[in-house]
Formats: sequence, C-alpha cells, structure tokens
Amino acid sequence: MQFIVFGNPIEHSLSPLIHADFGRQIGVNLQYSRSLTSSAQFNRAVAEFFRTGGGGANVTVPFKQHAYAQVTHVSARAERAGAVNTLVPLGAGQLLGDNTDGLGLVWDLQRLLGASQLTGKRVLLLGAGGAARGVIQPLLDAGVTTITVINRSPERAQQLVQLWQSPQLVWAPAATPEYDLIVNATSASLSGDKLVLGADVLDAAELVYDMMYGAKPSPFLEQAGQYTQMTADGLGMLVGQAGFAFKLWLDGAELNLNETLERLRAELNRGT
Ligand code: ATR
Repeated sequence: MQFIVFGNPIEHSLSPLIHADFGRQIGVNLQYSRSLTSSAQFNRAVAEFFRTGGGGANVTVPFKQHAYAQVTHVSARAERAGAVNTLVPLGAGQLLGDNTDGLGLVWDLQRLLGASQLTGKRVLLLGAGGAARGVIQPLLDAGVTTITVINRSPERAQQLVQLWQSPQLVWAPAATPEYDLIVNATSASLSGDKLVLGADVLDAAELVYDMMYGAKPSPFLEQAGQYTQMTADGLGMLVGQAGFAFKLWLDGAELNLNETLERLRAELNRGT
C-alpha cells in the first residue's frame, strides 16, 4: 500500500515516521513517501500518484488551499477550513478532500486536559491564517465557549470572524487575562520571531499550546512556561491529524496514538 505527502519544503516531514508506526501497529506493510512539488506540478503529481494505485495522500504547506480548489469532493470539515490536508481516492479519478488538522488539535488538547475538559473553555487563538482557520470549527464542535482571535494584522482577524458569523467567534485588538487556553496558530516561530503576551495573560491561562514543534521549545513556549501551568508544542496535533487521516484511508484501523507520540518525541529528541 502506497501513501505520500505533498509539500514544499518536505524533507523534514515526520509523516513517514508516523505512518510507518501506524502500519507497524496494525501489522500492515505500507510505504509512505515524501513528494517535493511545486504549484505548477501539484495537480499532475497528485493525479499520477492516484492513477498508479496510491492509497491516500497528505498535503502540507503550501498546498492545502490549492488541494481544496482541486478535489472533486470536499468534506464539511475541509469546507469550513477552506483547506485540505488529506486526499482519499473515490475511484474513477474522483478525490475526496478532507481536513483532519483541527481534529488532531482537539485530540491533543483532550489528551492534555482530560477528555471532556474542552467544554466551557474560553480560547485565545493567535493568528488568522490558514492554520488558525483550520482549527476553529473542530474547537467549537468540541464544546469551547468562545474563541477570540487576535492577529498582527487585525483586519485579517476581522475577516475570519465575519466568515463564521457565529457569536462564539470574536476578534480582539489585544490579549487580556481572561482565557483558559491560548493556542498559537501563527507562523512567527518559523521565522524565529518572538510573540509576546503579557505575563498576566499567560498567568491566567491553564494551557498554552503552540502548533509548531521541535526538539526545543519555541521562544513563545519558553516565555509561556514561566507563567502558565502547562505548555505544549504541536507534536501531538501532528500525530492526531495523521491518525485521523490514516483512519480515513484504512477504515476501522485501531491505532494507539499515544504510543506513536511517545516514539516520535523520543525520535525528535534524539535528533538534537
Ligand atoms: P498559515 O497557513 O501557517 O496559517 P498564513 O496563512 O501565511 O500561514 O498565516 C500566517 C499567520 O501567522 C498570520 O496570522 C500572520 O499574521 P498576519 O496576518 O499579520 O501576517 C501570522 N504571523 C506570521 N509571522 C508573524 C510574526 N512575526 N508575528 C506575529 N504574527 C505573525
């Protein structure tokens, strides 16, 4: 069985390791490769992969919106996210685009907080790009009370809120100390930029989560760690989104995502 992830850059993708571990867990010998592609080549590369019997694909930065525009069918989740991270072949050249990123985040937050503890939470979401948009509906569906979006460019936060038309999704010009969960969905860590939140805002939060991950905590998580009870990077979200994708491809697969996360964390730390 062949699977693949399309992205650019792609050489550091951990998806092959994660899916190899899923295959090991369910006793299936699968191949999962990385494909470095370009916007111009993306459609052809995807079509070729599925024409030659590919079982499923992931799509990562910067092609998630592109994939959304290309597939023949989109799930309600992908529609809300405006982006696709999972491609499922439907036969006869038809492709379903789904998005499991938000489910991955919710899985990880529930792991960290305990199953039902997202209910009633007030969330501060940092960022208003594709990563932020992808997690809004799954967080609302998981029972959070409100999501407040703040963004470097406030007009983008306002646009995102307008798109939802939900009283539960609001924007704010700046952070205040009234949130239980803080989720960083900006790409600031990627550029090495520091995101600064007030000590009072961090102190009031129960959990500060950064969707980025790495062997070392981001500067943002390091700062948060001085004030907040609990901090976490996005490695669990990565494993979670992979798990939900895998289940779309291999219906009924029973996975132990915690075990994969532990192995991956060890692998990541070994690489330092
Ligand atoms: P992605 O798909 O990863 O969300 P994106 O759509 O380009 O990528 O969005 C990047 C997000 O990170 C945006 O919210 C961006 O803020 P702007 O809308 O103001 O550009 C945010 N971001 C990127 N670098 C940042 C920085 N150094 N400080 C604060 N926010 C930053």
